[in-house]
Formats: sequence, structure tokens, C-alpha cells
Amino acid sequence: MEVISLVTMKGGSGKTTLATCLGVYWGKQGKKVGYIDADPSQTAWRLSQLGHGFHQVEFETARQDTLETKIKAYRDKGKDRLLIDTPGFESPLIEAAIKNSDCILIPIRPSPIDFQVAIDTYNLINELVKAHSRKLVRFVLTQANMKSLIARQIKQDIQVRNFMICNQHFSARVAYAEAILSGSTPSYLQPRGIAAEEISCLATEIDGLLNDF
Ligand SMILES: Nc1ncnc2c1ncn2[C@@H]1O[C@H](COP(=O)(O)OP(=O)(O)OP(=O)(O)O)[C@@H](O)[C@H]1O
Ligand SMILES: [Mg+2]
Repeated sequence: MEVISLVTMKGGSGKTTLATCLGVYWGKQGKKVGYIDADPSQTAWRLSQLGHGFHQVEFETARQDTLETKIKAYRDKGKDRLLIDTPGFESPLIEAAIKNSDCILIPIRPSPIDFQVAIDTYNLINELVKAHSRKLVRFVLTQANMKSLIARQIKQDIQVRNFMICNQHFSARVAYAEAILSGSTPSYLQPRGIAAEEISCLATEIDGLLNDF
């Protein structure tokens, strides 16, 4: 089972949207997907109770003292992928998620403040990972308008510093927020739409990275 955490200490950067979109996509592809909502606000867990749009994914919540047990339970159930959604602020839960993951995605909105916090998050991962095993770490641009100067500048700033960023980004689109409204994701609601295409490209890119890792 591959464990993928969505981590950044900046709130509202798109962790839950990314995690649910990837989870539903992989679930639709036939993978057995688990999801641990380790954010005390339990946003993803609550969304999963809204409708049938998340039925391809099995959701659980976890606190710091239950996280490892929940991960093990999903492993024992034979899941292929596990997504861990984390709080958008400094928390021991973030460290626990990082330590227990194979892959860490750092969502970043195109803004200088998000950039600074994403770098702090990357440095935290580096500190923790030194004492543990090798991890696949990637930034993912979210809520981005790639025609804007700021989005292109932030992407360039990430690359100039030799941080690894996914080629595929999530654009700022109402389709993501609207899908969440009805308890689902664009892959389920508008499978032929542009947002679904972005999800498919990002999920395929991550599949490739995990295969080569
Ligand atoms: N690509 C996108 N386009 C438009 N809106 C988006 C996109 N991604 C996320 N949003 C919206 O931005 C808000 C924050 O997104 P989300 O809840 O995924 O972030 P988060 O990092 O999980 O936040 P928190 O730290 O509070 O858990 C939500 O209202 C969501 O619908
Ligand atoms: Mg969230």
C-alpha cells in the first residue's frame, strides 16, 4: 500500500480538494483507496457523508494517537493507496503523517505567503526524513491561473531553488468547489470536463512517480 500525505502548514491551500480528487479518481480506476482525515476539523470526513460521490473511497478519521493503528488497519484490508489529509497548521499530526508516508504532496497556491509556508513545510519534511526513510516529495500548484504572472513566477521560484514540482497543476475553477458542494469531485460529476482532465493528468503523473520511486 502506497501512503500519500497532503501536507502544508498553510490553511486553505487545497489539501482536501487534492486528496479527495485523487482518491475518487484512483477509486474509479479500480484501485482500493483509503482516506484518513487527520485534520481535527474533519472536513473531508464530513464531505464524505454528504452524498454518494465519494463511495469509491473508504474514509476514516484519526487523531495523533490513532493514526498509525488506522494506517495499519487499511494495510491489513489490502488497500492499494492511502491518502492522509492533514491540518493546515503546525501540529504533531503533520509530523506523524510525514513519517508514515511514502509520498508527500505540498499544495501551494500562487502567493508569496503560501510559498514561504510551503518552503517551511519542505524543510520540516527534510528534517524528519533525515532520521527516517527516503520519501517522494513534490509541490503541487493549486488554485492557479497559469496565465497570471504570479502563478508563473511562483512556479519558477520553486524550480530555481531546485524543489521538485508536479508538471500538472490544479487551476482555479468553480468546478472543484461546486463538486464538493454536492459531496463529490469533478471526475464523478463532470468526467469529460477540464477539471476532470487536470485530475486525471495529475493522478497519472503521480502513478508514474510512484512506479519509478
Ligand atoms: N482548484 C481550485 N479551484 C477553486 N477553488 C478551490 C480549488 N481548490 C480548492 N478550492 C477551494 O478553496 C477552499 C480551500 O480548499 P481546501 O479545503 O481543499 O483546502 P485545505 O488545504 O484542505 O484547507 P484547510 O487547511 O482548511 O484544511 C475550499 O473552499 C475549496 O473549495
Ligand atoms: Mg482540508
